[in-house]
Amino acid sequence: MKIFNNNLFSGITITVSALVILSSCSSDPLSPGIEFMPDMYRSVAYKPYEENPNFKDMLGARPPVEGTISQGEFPNSAWSMNNSIYPYPNTNEGYEAAGLNLKNPIEATPANLEKGKEIYTKFCVACHGEAGDGNGSIVANGKFPSPGKYWDKVATGLNEGKMFHSITYGKNLMGQHASQVTKEERWLVINHINELVKKATPSANNATANDTIKK
Ligand code: HEC
Repeated sequence: MKIFNNNLFSGITITVSALVILSSCSSDPLSPGIEFMPDMYRSVAYKPYEENPNFKDMLGARPPVEGTISQGEFPNSAWSMNNSIYPYPNTNEGYEAAGLNLKNPIEATPANLEKGKEIYTKFCVACHGEAGDGNGSIVANGKFPSPGKYWDKVATGLNEGKMFHSITYGKNLMGQHASQVTKEERWLVINHINELVKKATPSANNATANDTIKK
């Protein structure tokens, strides 16, 4: 048995829809009219800059909690105490400026050197080789051109600031390591590279990256 014929059914549907739609209209153009499900578009949460009576100062926007890391920042900001983002752009000028201004804040204590070596062994050894002579495993098996010896580069002006810059952004065939190696770890690994340079150039007064920067 059919209760509605099709025409009656669509007539009712159209009338109900029209009523629903029209009932939300208002003569005031700024009024939203009747809202059927206000929670759907009016969040019960406080807006960031709305007064918030739950706090004494009534400010909805709260200062970030202690220990918050600003965007683009990593813990242990190594070149400044004010947690600024890395100030040197990925350009030749940025490279030179980093070379002039960045100083390794991390002491080369035996414990720190051990940490530096560990980072080096994880991220750098495959290309640069255990001794830093640019003969890592993927170079030795002919898959990658040698990055060269660290001590040759230091002798021609590579210093710790430039190293930091190159590790951060990469250089030519070397990819950037900013996302894998934190700033603190970059300085630790630079201390280890200095040790490798010292070992390879034992006559004590030969340049190391730390010495170059003082000249
Ligand atoms: C995929 C191979 C590869 C890996 C991995 C790699 N490097 Fe390099 N690295 C190179 C090459 C190639 C160069 C030479 C770039 C150039 O001067 O053209 C280089 C250059 C450098 C330089 C000299 C940069 C300069 O300014 O002249 C430093 C310092 C350095 N690497 C440190 C590291 C450290 C530290 C790591 C690990 C965190 C690392 N590299 C990982 C291939 C690599």
